[in-house]
Amino acid sequence: MLFSALALIAASATAVVGCPQHSNHKRSHLQGRQTDPNANTTQNIWAYEASFNWGKLSPDYRLCQTGTQQSPIALSLGNGLSLNHVPTFNYTGSVPGNFYNWGYGPAFTVAHNGDWTSHPSFTYDNETLYLKGWHIHAPADHSVGGDRSKAEMHFVHVDAEGHEGAVLAFRLDPGNFNNTFFDQLPAMIGFDEMQTEESIEMDLSLAMESVQYFNEFWSYQGSLTSPPCHEGIRWFIARQIMFTGVEQMQAILGASTYSARAEQEVWQHRINE
Ligand SMILES: *[C@@H]1O[C@H](CO)[C@@H](O)[C@H](O)[C@H]1NC(C)=O
Ligand SMILES: *[C@@H]1O[C@H](CO)[C@@H](O)[C@H](O)[C@H]1NC(C)=O
Ligand SMILES: *[C@@H]1O[C@H](CO)[C@@H](O)[C@H](O)[C@H]1NC(C)=O
Ligand SMILES: *[C@@H]1O[C@H](CO)[C@@H](O)[C@H](O)[C@H]1NC(C)=O
Ligand SMILES: [Zn+2]
Repeated sequence: MLFSALALIAASATAVVGCPQHSNHKRSHLQGRQTDPNANTTQNIWAYEASFNWGKLSPDYRLCQTGTQQSPIALSLGNGLSLNHVPTFNYTGSVPGNFYNWGYGPAFTVAHNGDWTSHPSFTYDNETLYLKGWHIHAPADHSVGGDRSKAEMHFVHVDAEGHEGAVLAFRLDPGNFNNTFFDQLPAMIGFDEMQTEESIEMDLSLAMESVQYFNEFWSYQGSLTSPPCHEGIRWFIARQIMFTGVEQMQAILGASTYSARAEQEVWQHRINE
């Protein structure tokens, strides 16, 4: 169904200035794009091609340069895997939401009725966090043992008040079979133009199944991977790669723009602790 032709709904190009990329509101990513006519051009221009310099662009982005737990970082099996913070999932059934392009690739925001606790969720350390949505970076943000996957999908989670607290990261690579998670998505042809969004329903548990519900994972204390680079985000990176079909990967890459931040030096990330 990935290539089935569905009518695309023209979206109003409303800019939401001031939301970080991981807030995952539709169009919020536009804060960083020079193509956004409403962007505060003094404050908000940043580019992945110059991610080394984000801290100098605005006082609000200082943490990008001086933070102690910046993401992403390089991982390896030498780090071992996490035995702490083991997640359990409450991801059942299909949920409605918006499928769109966050400016750098495919994204989906769960429809929100004001109650975060009605969203799919996961629990670790006695705390439950709720899915706000997902988006894809290409290539992957996190390398493992020096290998970088073709893409990486982030499931962004918030607490009951809507504050971002954790990201589940899925490394994506092409394999031999179409993935049932991506089979749910409509065509992405021309999808890099940021002009469309579409209401769809998705069974998000299919992504969890693809990585055996994070039965093996790395975890660390990190940050948003785009300005303002806020910290206090717990990352979970599945060891299992989420494989897609070849055509599915080509559709994802075709709808994506380079969106991996340079890897940061490990400092106070407390990997797997
Ligand atoms: C844009 O950002 C600059 C630097 O932070 C700030 O001084 C200015 O007031 C902002 N302008 C608007 C219109 O928000
Ligand atoms: C799972 O989440 C739903 C809301 O999506 C909630 O009604 C249900 O109580 C949750 N189940 C558990 C075991 O927490
Ligand atoms: C979770 O709650 C249980 C029971 O209250 C407690 O024994 C345990 O230490 C808590 N775990 C964490 C990581 O806070
Ligand atoms: C995957 O799906 C595409 C259509 O989207 C189809 O052309 C292709 O043959 C499928 N590949 C496999 C391995 O099933
Ligand atoms: Zn991300």
